[in-house]
Amino acid sequence: MEKFIVEGGKRLTGTVRVSGSKNSALGILVAAALADGECLLHNVPDETDIRIMIDILIELGVRVEWLEANTLRLRTAHLRSYQAPYELVRRMRASFYVAGLLLARVGKAEVPLPGGCSLGSRPVDFHLKGFQALGADVSISHGLMKAEATRLIGTKIYINRSSVGTTVNLMLAASLAEGQTILENAAKEPEVVDLAIFLNGMGARIKGAGTNVIKIDGVKKLSGTEYTIIPDRVEAGTLMIATACTRGDVVVEEVVPEHLRAVVLTLQEAGVTVEEDLTRFHVVSDRRPKAVDTETAPYPGFPTDLQQPFVALMSTADGTSIIRETIFDRFRYVDELRRMGADIKVERDTAIVRGVERLTGAPVEVTDLRAGAALLCAALGAEGATEMVGVEHIDRGYERIDQKLRALGARITRFHAEGEWPSQE
Ligand code: UD1
Repeated sequence: MEKFIVEGGKRLTGTVRVSGSKNSALGILVAAALADGECLLHNVPDETDIRIMIDILIELGVRVEWLEANTLRLRTAHLRSYQAPYELVRRMRASFYVAGLLLARVGKAEVPLPGGCSLGSRPVDFHLKGFQALGADVSISHGLMKAEATRLIGTKIYINRSSVGTTVNLMLAASLAEGQTILENAAKEPEVVDLAIFLNGMGARIKGAGTNVIKIDGVKKLSGTEYTIIPDRVEAGTLMIATACTRGDVVVEEVVPEHLRAVVLTLQEAGVTVEEDLTRFHVVSDRRPKAVDTETAPYPGFPTDLQQPFVALMSTADGTSIIRETIFDRFRYVDELRRMGADIKVERDTAIVRGVERLTGAPVEVTDLRAGAALLCAALGAEGATEMVGVEHIDRGYERIDQKLRALGARITRFHAEGEWPSQE
């Protein structure tokens, strides 16, 4: 168990650089294993989820090396196994992407189904239907998916609900299929576009990524390439919200402003000043935010991954905000925010947040990645000390977040179970 002690109430100031996108890197790492040859990936965030994916790929026979802090080299002569290891797969839902890889490259896949997690049940039925449509023989038994296809055959697939994971998995599978695959109602997230650009750099023929119809003309072989992963829009948004929570003044650099349009507009509506140039946001807040209503939606809507930090911000807003979550069951962290004095009522998919003057530090427990981000934002703005346990959830998807925040003036200390965690600065 790792924990943070956050002494709240310090205004964040300065400049912070955003790391590469975790969600993009997860798909791209798996895609790199489709290549006959070497891929060099830059701006890969060094986070637990990325390390898990690397370990899975190594188990399957991919040679993976860190060349520098955020640069990876992947080489795949052949995959030596079609069975993904349960112990690693169960730790992360995105590990199901190896199903698309294995089917495309080996024609056979055995991948444990991702279990339920603290976000509730997260099914993979769309992924399975897609593999079947591509001609794979798919069966499920005792929580294990077995799929087989001599060669996948391109076809038209309608994805029932805009799903990032399904779109990614089917793009991976269809890239080496015979003929054309058309994904209808595909996810439009920037991470899907990033994957398409990377795959095309490997020789794939993908058009339409970023719209809801993606056309993939299967090719016989993909080759190695070099690529730089896009900045993490969720980390950027979290840092912007953290700045607003502390009434701070921060330049968030290495961002693609277009990827955060809904977030910027919502923050501005709350009275936060956000100015931008090509790759930076300047965020300034000097007063209590105004209450704003919003609801999460697939891109370009307000991201579900920022719903929790935004609720933390609205907890001290002037007025009552209504926040609706339309993608996942994601309000369990609210109990922890209440320990800090937040006044939040949850009715099914909606949080009714009555802003209080200020939050106060309290012992809280992090139960998932984005809940952790929310509690961290709340703790930074709160009066007094917050002890956060379960910080390893935050490390899954935020690279050196405590170091970055300390550099902005936050008082945050990391403790290991036995004592203070050695600083890596
Ligand atoms: C990805 C992101 C996650 C983000 C989410 C929504 C990664 C690694 N994770 O998750 O950070 O919060 O997109 O933007 O990129 N669904 C089904 N059946 C399926 C697949 C999905 O019912 O087979 C449902 C889900 O339960 C959810 C919705 O579709 O309600 C969207 O899920 P999806 O976009 O697939 O999320 P992930 O890819 O898991």
